[in-house]
Amino acid sequence: MNILTPVQVGMIGMGVVGTGVARILVQHADRITRRAGRPIRLKRVAVRDTGRTRDVELPAGVISGDAADLIQDPEISIVVQLMGGVDLARQQILAALTHGKDIVTANKAVLAEHGTEIFDHALRLGRSVAYDAAVAGGIPIVSNIGQCLTANQITSLHGILNGTCNFIISKMEEDHSDYASAVAEAQRRGFAEADPRMDVDGSDAAQKLAILVQMAFDTQIGWRDIHRVGIDRLEPAELQLAKELGYRVRLIASASHGNNGLELQVAPRLVRIGSPLAEVRGAYNAISVNGDMVGTIFYHGLGAGQSPTASAVVADLIDTVVGRSAITFRTTGHWSDHEHSLPFADVAQTRSRFYWRITVQDDPGVLAQIAGALGQNGVSIATLIQRESVFDSVPGYTNLVLMTHESSEGAALAAETQLRQLAVVRKDTGIRLPVLN
Ligand SMILES: NC(=O)c1ccc[n+]([C@@H]2O[C@H](COP(=O)([O-])OP(=O)(O)OC[C@H]3O[C@@H](n4cnc5c(N)ncnc54)[C@H](OP(=O)(O)O)[C@@H]3O)[C@@H](O)[C@H]2O)c1
Repeated sequence: MNILTPVQVGMIGMGVVGTGVARILVQHADRITRRAGRPIRLKRVAVRDTGRTRDVELPAGVISGDAADLIQDPEISIVVQLMGGVDLARQQILAALTHGKDIVTANKAVLAEHGTEIFDHALRLGRSVAYDAAVAGGIPIVSNIGQCLTANQITSLHGILNGTCNFIISKMEEDHSDYASAVAEAQRRGFAEADPRMDVDGSDAAQKLAILVQMAFDTQIGWRDIHRVGIDRLEPAELQLAKELGYRVRLIASASHGNNGLELQVAPRLVRIGSPLAEVRGAYNAISVNGDMVGTIFYHGLGAGQSPTASAVVADLIDTVVGRSAITFRTTGHWSDHEHSLPFADVAQTRSRFYWRITVQDDPGVLAQIAGALGQNGVSIATLIQRESVFDSVPGYTNLVLMTHESSEGAALAAETQLRQLAVVRKDTGIRLPVLN
């Protein structure tokens, strides 16, 4: 075969990301040819609605409504799956692998649900799956972990992996807007779906964390097993009070080697102002990775959007054409290999300091009851502020804002349960957030 024979690619889905991919391939064909060593030609693109006007002009006959057709086309060697969804996406990827195609995808949901099956199938058939765009969009975190950091044992990884949540929290922080208004603004500006539940409840970040953990720690994890707390209970008060204490709140997806095994969680946490993660604003993503050899590396960039995500997809496409994806995939993609699997720590055993806001009756002796309930469970107070009427002020009540010394989540939860039983504590208010050390 002539070295300049185009590589024929099939793409399933040409929405936000697919349009960006087509645009790069069409408008920057020379650059891509140089980098790939051969032209990359979109031979077929499957969409749902073939009658829709597209933002990128493709030659007549390229767009079709039939994904099966491109999956079976013997001339196509790479299928780029950009349709989203889980069940149909799984079927398409498995079928494309069976038909001898390599896969490039941005679909984190299908990998988080069926990654093991897909990866096993690809390994059996000698094919590759490249998925850098599935985690943190334009940030090349998957290829960095899979290629550049392989001399290391990753010891911890903390990420802001959901730009929607970071936008909402930043909005609440900067404008003092309440949660509902910040969500509405995120929707208006295209940063949040009409139904943002998978974002705000931490599920999306947990899916991305699960994908990273399988690579970074050579271990298997189902994303549903990751302890997650969403941002929907956050109030502007927390963001202001955290700031007074020297922190910002961020939805942090974290994995770290602890004494009791691999600690995994997605939760809003206090992050010290001035640390790189605390300074991540708006719809940006960031990941701090600690390797035993390299130390700490920090990645920051756009985790979604047309061009950043397409940048990652096309890089994967080029890597697949030149053979890099196959090498990386063979050496790091053993999701179903349990040999190195690490034990997971029970979330009750994970240790951190806690920020705690408790709304209590403004009476003498109340403080002693609170300190007593905490102390009986082994939680000790490091800092305490009393705020009478700033937030949610209810006559006769005041807010106690605490920073605790380090304790286990289990001890803090037991203390919280005991606090809620005290007559002096308002049952429907208060929040406890772990602090990122
Ligand atoms: N958007 C981002 O910033 C971003 C970032 C990272 C990862 N991702 C991931 O990338 C993937 C694509 O996201 P997106 O935002 O580009 O989605 P999108 O804008 O909703 O586009 C989906 C595409 O799939 C097509 N499609 C739907 N059902 C189909 C079917 N049965 N057969 C063939 N085509 C079908 C749609 O066709 P029509 O055009 O005809 O409707 C559309 O072109 C998702 O897995 C997403 O999670 C997205």
